[in-house]
Amino acid sequence: MQKIKKVGILTSGGDCPGLNAVIRGFVKAATRQYGIECVGICDGFKGLVSMKTMVLNDSTVSGLLTMGGTVLGTAREKPYKMMINGEKVDMTETILKNIKTMGIDALICLGGGGTQKNAFHLMQQGIPVVTLPKTIDNDVANTDITFGFDTAMQIATDAIDRLHSTASSHQRVMVVEIMGHNAGWLTLGSGISGGADVILIPEIPYQIEAIAKALEERHKRGKKFSIVAVAEGAISLNDAEHPEEMLAKQEKLLKKLDAAGLPYIKEPLATKIARKIEAYTGFETRVTTLGHVQRGGIPTATDRFLSTRLGTRAAQCVAEGVLNVMISVKGDRCEPVPLESVAGKKKRVPLDHPWIESARLCGISLGD
Ligand code: F6P
Repeated sequence: MQKIKKVGILTSGGDCPGLNAVIRGFVKAATRQYGIECVGICDGFKGLVSMKTMVLNDSTVSGLLTMGGTVLGTAREKPYKMMINGEKVDMTETILKNIKTMGIDALICLGGGGTQKNAFHLMQQGIPVVTLPKTIDNDVANTDITFGFDTAMQIATDAIDRLHSTASSHQRVMVVEIMGHNAGWLTLGSGISGGADVILIPEIPYQIEAIAKALEERHKRGKKFSIVAVAEGAISLNDAEHPEEMLAKQEKLLKKLDAAGLPYIKEPLATKIARKIEAYTGFETRVTTLGHVQRGGIPTATDRFLSTRLGTRAAQCVAEGVLNVMISVKGDRCEPVPLESVAGKKKRVPLDHPWIESARLCGISLGD
């Protein structure tokens, strides 16, 4: 068994609530129970190049349980394609050398899909790694859930609740855009919890006619307001059937400059859908894009609890020499799974998933 004496901990990719709680759980267990020294690597994989570090011990992690974001800082940089002086450079060799210089025996990487892939890359170069599944998107493969998801779902649900009262007062359609990248978990979960009338997710291409029909039928039943929850990655049936045309259109738009000569900024999907809803139904429609609010602030009790369990379990695995794994949530347990079963994969909402069934049974339109 490989004895790990010192680990480097990093957070990479988009931040989310729960990162600090995982760091705290890991460091407490690693240092106090197993005598493993911990060093914080700042700003994701970039910190392995700059060797910018932070002391992590029982006293420096004190107070982190409830804190949002990540004290270590984060970035979306990849070891093999890092932006150095305006150019993308493969920094793998430098990273391997620096890990040796810092006396680090194993890396603990907290992150989503991209981070799992980057950690796997370093693992293939011989660096022992243990990863943890982070993201508000809940799209990491081979885990029931990711930390950060529950908090984001609560924030989006709160927003839908608030939109309900104003939608009802004004008899409007409220279109709310929710994050989640190319997976519909966050929109489906918060849409069902918040009682949305229409939920659009990337896994089920929508047709504007179907959305308009659902809203008109609701109107006829005497419900003069509606909530439409749109995942940022939702896609129309036409675009899903003609992906090349859609990509060509997008590329053309990205090259365009606006009247002030500034680069074109993509219109939020919710705005595009709201314009069409108004045109098809004549109902007054408003747009809310939740954006990064969904990633901010303190983690919910569920996320703090999950993060602490994941962090402490990861420390236990390192101490037992269980390496090159992701600590995954399986039912009511946190278990190590081989990193190769996670890296490069994505967990989207299966079309026969019980959440989809429940939404349909509840009379929610999924736009199809
Ligand atoms: O992966 C988390 C996430 O918040 C996605 O839901 C979203 O598409 C993306 O990150 C936004 O990234 P950034 O913070 O880099 O704009």
